[in-house]
Amino acid sequence: MTSQTIPVDPFDFIIFGGTGDLSERKLLPALYQRQRAGQFCEPTRIIGASRSAMSDEEFRTFARESISNHVKKEEIDDAEVARFVERLSYVPVDAKTGDGFDKLKQAIGDSDRIRAFYLAVAPALFGDIASNIEKHGLITKNSRIVVEKPIGRSLASAHELNDAIGRVFEEHQIFRIDHYLGKETVQNLMVLRFANILYERLWNSANIDHVQITVAETVGLEGRADYYDKAGALRDMVQNHLLQLLCLVAMEPPASMDAEVVRDEKLKVLRSLKRINGNEAPKHTVRGQYKAGASAGGAVKGYLQELKNGESDTETFVAIKAEIANWRWAGVPFYLRTGKRLAERVSEIVIEFKAVPHSIFDQSAGAIVPNQLVIRLQPDEGVKQFIMAKDPGPGGMRLRHVSLDMTFADSFEVRNPDAYERLIMDIVRGNQTLFMRRDEVEAAWKWIDPIIAAWEENGQAVQGYTAGTWGPSGAIALIERDGRTWHESM
Ligand code: BG6
Repeated sequence: MTSQTIPVDPFDFIIFGGTGDLSERKLLPALYQRQRAGQFCEPTRIIGASRSAMSDEEFRTFARESISNHVKKEEIDDAEVARFVERLSYVPVDAKTGDGFDKLKQAIGDSDRIRAFYLAVAPALFGDIASNIEKHGLITKNSRIVVEKPIGRSLASAHELNDAIGRVFEEHQIFRIDHYLGKETVQNLMVLRFANILYERLWNSANIDHVQITVAETVGLEGRADYYDKAGALRDMVQNHLLQLLCLVAMEPPASMDAEVVRDEKLKVLRSLKRINGNEAPKHTVRGQYKAGASAGGAVKGYLQELKNGESDTETFVAIKAEIANWRWAGVPFYLRTGKRLAERVSEIVIEFKAVPHSIFDQSAGAIVPNQLVIRLQPDEGVKQFIMAKDPGPGGMRLRHVSLDMTFADSFEVRNPDAYERLIMDIVRGNQTLFMRRDEVEAAWKWIDPIIAAWEENGQAVQGYTAGTWGPSGAIALIERDGRTWHESM
């Protein structure tokens, strides 16, 4: 039995926004997969709670459709689905007025089973739901609350949201999801660093030239214009996912995997990020917005054409040269970039080591390319270590840049679970290691806020880029000014 299949104690999982998009695309399929893996003990129950009037039976139909649309055909088993929907029920609630919360209490009953309240709703409702949960006596010592980003759009608003939840739940009961932390390779990053002697000794400014973190998407707005146009790539992706990845690359070795210990180390990294002020922003940051082009083999509209009013200065791409002001990392730039409608869907971290101090080979042997460690988060999760090797055969010494390649799908023949499957089970087990603590979220905003302020002060406009390319030319200039280039996936 692997940790993927160890059964957990019976629990009640209450999904506010149970009939919404997140529940449909991610939560219900993930819960189904965990049942299929044999992790549920009876009587585990899942209760949908939303504004819509719906019967238990209608919610079960909704769940059946969610599974059939979002789980691979070969993983759908009719008997398993029937057993899954049996544990589902539905209670209509109104987060604002509190209507329906008494019924919810009746539906949950008095047990002190683990109780997870998952808020798959807009953040504006977090405070109301938390206080109604309390007012109606739904909190037990085994209760937890789960919230999703965006946790605020600035430090001040994050503070307010955290206060609203924190008035009702204690920090150890609050699970703030960053789904990137649930991705297989993201956790592998910790194993790579801390279960091998090879890298950690070299993991510092003496040996590493720079780090690149790319999260490139080919999708556009996907019907989320209302949210996205107010957020933009910096708030939507950098404040959370990219900074979390940066923390895992840059943190000191934690003494254990204990949640507080790991999160203490990540927090220190966030606090060491060098603030980018108004003067530096134009050199250290690039904002882009996609124009019409081609993506995934077809013509696609530009960002503005996807909006109702056709006007916006929101960035759909951002590149940043970040610096960490501490002993380990001083002088090592971390180049971050993320965007929509880019050339490829790829998320990867590239650690580029320094050049060898002296070459013993003739120039005719070819250039020595610095070693690179490439950690690919998606797709084709894996790790590649680029090294120099001799080109085989006679005819003199010729050097070649080659990769030692470990594609996880080839090395481990197991199904790669979705991030939500792991995170949901961690919520049930009460393990907060892969969730963001309040101070982390706020420290990330403390670094992001001045960048936004600088953009506004300087009127730093978005640079257009054609959909299906690697972003605006400014992003290339950002790194090439330093004599470096963005890694091309190979
Ligand atoms: C979400 C963002 O947090 O992450 C989306 O709001 C983005 O805009 C998504 O598309 C990317 O997640 P993944 O797992 O597909 O890389």
